[in-house]
Amino acid sequence: MLILGVESSCDETGIALYDSEAGLLSHALHSQVAMHAEYGGVVPELASRDHIRRVVPLLREALGRAGKHFDDIDAVAYTRGPGLAGALLVGCAFAEALALAIAKPTIPVHHLEGHLLSPLLSSDPPTFPFVALLVSGGHTQLMKVTGVGEYELLGETLDDAAGEAFDKSAKLLGLPYPGGALLSKLAETGTPGIHELPRPMLHSGDLSFSFSGLKTAVLTLVREQGENLSEAFKADAARAFQEAIVEVLVKKSLKAMKQTGLKQLVVAGGVGANKQLRATLNDEAKRKRFRVYYPELEFCTDNGAMIALAGCLRLQAGTPSKPAGEFSVLPRWPLMEMSATR
Ligand code: KG4
Ligand code: ZN
Repeated sequence: MLILGVESSCDETGIALYDSEAGLLSHALHSQVAMHAEYGGVVPELASRDHIRRVVPLLREALGRAGKHFDDIDAVAYTRGPGLAGALLVGCAFAEALALAIAKPTIPVHHLEGHLLSPLLSSDPPTFPFVALLVSGGHTQLMKVTGVGEYELLGETLDDAAGEAFDKSAKLLGLPYPGGALLSKLAETGTPGIHELPRPMLHSGDLSFSFSGLKTAVLTLVREQGENLSEAFKADAARAFQEAIVEVLVKKSLKAMKQTGLKQLVVAGGVGANKQLRATLNDEAKRKRFRVYYPELEFCTDNGAMIALAGCLRLQAGTPSKPAGEFSVLPRWPLMEMSATR
């Protein structure tokens, strides 16, 4: 069974071909980062237009690399939500139209389910059940994952997502969009302990998160510094921010591992690319005798491969595909609505 995956929920156009037997055959990606950088953030209308421009050439690229033809595709999976409405509509309309043309069914996929299952694309994948720490630009959740479509929410952020906190703090430090990855790079050169920032909800006793206060603390730190921020200040502040957010993410993950008694932790979503988060979790896992799994770096941020994979796993788990042609997108769509065990 060959599944085509289409991702277009935000600022990346991703296309991939996943074979149920052979695994991932090819994937092609276009990031709009350079285009949005000029505006300091994603401009939804520009994002939609760019998806339109990119999607067909990317499909040709993916088919070419895999040595496959339209007729070889058995079903088309695409991101139905959550995400930017216009951007989602491009991928969805493209996927539905293509499926209609080749007389194959479609599988609408939840974007976060794609992130959640993305470590299964690696050569040494986790097995069910596992705890998942989902840390993206829009979400921060701890989940117990028993199988495909069997998700139990253990805790989530009450306000900003971890990626959002990274991006907003980066902006406060004068870093260009998208700031998260840049802030983490800068943090590597900073000295820990120069500035102290709060660890929100660290001792709340539950698995909830809150990051908007941390962002405000960065703002206060920046204001105290005055007009011109020195490079040393920026690096030390970035380090302080990263130390704080990583400590909270790690401690809550450890609590979730203890609470569930599970021995595998999966970290998914863009913030999962963070080196300090990975190093700290790896150390703790060694000490506490559990294993941590990450998606390959290229599949941490948005991509088509995780959508093709999620579509394929859904079909194998018995979720029916649907006839092509009729569709809707869901810009706001809680993952728990996809869970059979909620
Ligand atoms: O999963 P993703 O690609 O998109 C969403 O579905 O939201 O995650 C993007 C987020 C952004 O907020 C970005 O700043 C953050 O992931 N990010 C990072 C790093 N790389 C990407 N945050 C911290 N450290 C990184 N190395
Ligand atoms: Zn994402």
